[in-house]
Amino acid sequence: MRNETLRFLVLVLFLFLCPTLSWKKEEFRTCEQTPFCKRGRSRAPGSSSVIATDVAISNGELTAKLTPKDDPQSKPLILRLSVYQDSILRLTIDEDPSLSPPKTRFQPPDVLLPDFPSTKLWLPRLTSEDHGAASSVRLSDAHSAVLRQHPFELFIRHDASSQRVISLNSRGLFDFEPLRHKSDGDDWEERFRSHTDSRPYGPQSISFDVSFHAADFVYGIPERASSLALRPTRGPNVDHSEPYRLFNLDVFEYLHDSPFGLYGSVPFMLAHGKTRGTSGFFWLNAAEMQIDVLAPGWDAEYTDSLIALPSNRIDTFWMSEAGVVDAFFFVGPSPKDVLRQYTAVTGTPAMPQLFSVAYHQCRWNYRDEEDVEHVDSKFDELDIPYDVLWLDIEHTDGKRYFTWDRALFPHPEEMQRKLADKGRKMVTIVDPHIKRDDGFHLHKEASQKGYYVKDASGNDFDGWCWPGSSSYPDTLNPEIREWWAEKFSYKNYVGSTPSLYIWNDMNEPSVFNGPEVSMPRDALHYGGVEHRELHNAYGYYFHMATADGLLKRGEGKDRPFVLSRALFAGSQRHGAVWTGDNTADWDHLRVSVPMILTLGLTGISFSGADVGGFFGNPEPELLVRWYQLGAYYPFFRAHAHHDTKRREPWLFGERNTELIKEAIHVRYALLPYFYTLFREANTSGVPVVRPLWMEFPSDEATFSNDEAFMVGGSLLVQGIYTERAKHASVYLPGKESWYDMRTSTVYKGGVTHKLDITEESIPAFQRAGTIIARKDRFRRSSTQMANDPYTLVIALNSSQAAEGELYIDDGSSFNFLQGAYIHRRFFFSNGKLTSIDLTPASGSNRRYPSDAFIERIILLGHPPGLKNALIEPSNDKVDIELAPLWFLRARAPAVMTIRKPSVRVGEDWTITVS
Ligand code: NOJ
Repeated sequence: MRNETLRFLVLVLFLFLCPTLSWKKEEFRTCEQTPFCKRGRSRAPGSSSVIATDVAISNGELTAKLTPKDDPQSKPLILRLSVYQDSILRLTIDEDPSLSPPKTRFQPPDVLLPDFPSTKLWLPRLTSEDHGAASSVRLSDAHSAVLRQHPFELFIRHDASSQRVISLNSRGLFDFEPLRHKSDGDDWEERFRSHTDSRPYGPQSISFDVSFHAADFVYGIPERASSLALRPTRGPNVDHSEPYRLFNLDVFEYLHDSPFGLYGSVPFMLAHGKTRGTSGFFWLNAAEMQIDVLAPGWDAEYTDSLIALPSNRIDTFWMSEAGVVDAFFFVGPSPKDVLRQYTAVTGTPAMPQLFSVAYHQCRWNYRDEEDVEHVDSKFDELDIPYDVLWLDIEHTDGKRYFTWDRALFPHPEEMQRKLADKGRKMVTIVDPHIKRDDGFHLHKEASQKGYYVKDASGNDFDGWCWPGSSSYPDTLNPEIREWWAEKFSYKNYVGSTPSLYIWNDMNEPSVFNGPEVSMPRDALHYGGVEHRELHNAYGYYFHMATADGLLKRGEGKDRPFVLSRALFAGSQRHGAVWTGDNTADWDHLRVSVPMILTLGLTGISFSGADVGGFFGNPEPELLVRWYQLGAYYPFFRAHAHHDTKRREPWLFGERNTELIKEAIHVRYALLPYFYTLFREANTSGVPVVRPLWMEFPSDEATFSNDEAFMVGGSLLVQGIYTERAKHASVYLPGKESWYDMRTSTVYKGGVTHKLDITEESIPAFQRAGTIIARKDRFRRSSTQMANDPYTLVIALNSSQAAEGELYIDDGSSFNFLQGAYIHRRFFFSNGKLTSIDLTPASGSNRRYPSDAFIERIILLGHPPGLKNALIEPSNDKVDIELAPLWFLRARAPAVMTIRKPSVRVGEDWTITVS
């Protein structure tokens, strides 16, 4: 049998077996099986003997040398400390290049925002502290960074209170393995299952402890399926836990509660406490990382380090296989401050196109053009809006991306145009594995140009993925990214049209026959970078190149939309992400919330989970609950594995269709609110969906709540995660009340309410004191709603006041960057609603013209008796009447409504009620 045929049969057998497998623990390394992690974990507190010497100011930065105390002859490491605007502190530690280390250690390029370096502040002087044993520099009027020399320790201090905020090496765990030349007898190979990692550069790991002071909980470091507040992984009462792992992997049937790392990695942790607020720590490093959260008393076994700890300090221990220390400290002090600071370094989320914020219909696979047409027309027949239809891998000619299976999809342009006529888009999948087929132009070109990642011997790396034998473009190289981006031009991507967008999957990268289903760590990238050094950012560069391709295709006019499974710090600049292959069960429904919240906390706001669950067949009740929750995810897409039964919204009987339709309608009604939140994320880094504590930072009852979440600052949503639920306990934070979004019933804040639950909706509330904008007329797609009128829902607080914002632009172009948008603040107090222009007075030479008007204003929480509303400047009077809270819902309760005030959404006006 020819080699090719044999390989093909093996693959077929593998794919055949795949759906019957489940989470295979033994396929993945534990800390114990990962030498750098095992070495790191075995070290005792205080074991670091490093001291800082030669502390000076040079080029506006603090510099010092780090040397082991007991080996002053060893090559010192170079430490640099620099300060950036907004109190951001950056610490780098690397080998001294002037001492000719065997190799330059890798620092991931193109992750920091290009303008970040220009925000550096020039440090004029050092202040000596503690009789010269420490030096400090000012971060701001409130904070200083203090470098202690013997032993080395770095901490940020709040000067007025002398309290520490964050510190590094306070527990003496700092260790940096310098690169060495191999000598005889050094065995650097590492073996795992059938794989051998040649490790030509030997051990090169780095580890250190980071302590968060005045902190009650730590959060962040996605991606994994676990609670929002990170549980300790070591210490008393923690049973054999693995550290939190950051290593991008394609994990088949992942568990719903595990510290194990999934498809993406963001080495950014936040700490939050009632007394001080929030702080953050980000380590820009793309190698495998393992992080322990240490429970109080974790060091009890080390008798000589029994120092009484302040009770609300959280120690964490960070270990990475390679790279350098390039770490950023953020002092907050509010949660939103930390997000602003972190996204000043890695970028705020890209502003998405409006269509991508609406509902997406996906499955693996929509079979052919007829299937597409049928699904599309069913949505219309049933008046269910949707914006995007997705095609998975089977649409291609033999998993050769950028091609079509012409038997199934003979007229791709026409198919897209038909959707586009209804304002709808299509997304096709483009994965990084390129079929090694000499007849495939992409492969031919990539191999001729030498554009593939190389194996340890320098040949094109060849691994197994969907197409069989495949190679992977080395998108670390900017030239290869350019080349990849070109492939999305209409000329190159035959059959693509302007309404086609892209899905990047398997970009961890997934390699079916590789170690831990990925690429060997000794594979080689551009510039001699080993895969181990960049692994967690591989998918990031691929995502970046794809997004750039869409940008170029549209000559820079259209905002790209690219969904990626792998992610890294900064992915928010390139598009959306999702939480991969979840399972159709209640636990996975539940864990989707902390997963999405955690991504948002680490800057990646535009995320969602497969609605319905990827694996398995959801019971109709689960599917309905998933739609009801998914309608509030930032990215709202239904998706399913090809072995599952079809599950389009109309396949579960009339009642369930109605319920699903209703959930989708809620999302479409709230699109103006969501879009405004996406713009807020784009300008401030504050995520679209947020943990409750981001809005109520001093309310301890919210700190570990990850069943409920805030959509922006105005809505609170509580998922229903159990079958046949009749009641739910919902904690509503704050002093002000909350209005049930469906019924307008008022609930007190600061109380846990036991609520009756029906199948009709999950609990969702509007916070008193807020105003949100809705669009209540339903069309086929969001684009067709562009000129529809708005409804304002004013939820009054105890002072009879409320405020809210609305952002509008053309939904697709970059003209908003030149000021072509509408941004209003609505403000209600003393019986008067005012619309204020928030666009900057100068600098905006364009406006977004909109004729859209406000058709209804709903007043919740006003004492009865209002009769009419005076509109100025027109001087018109309109009646105030009782009308349904939801326009199209016959059974919606009647609420006080100003009907047809007929004011334009982009103009200044006031409305006084009496
Ligand atoms: C794995 C992805 O996570 C899933 O969403 C997709 O359907 C399959 N790959 C096939 O492309």
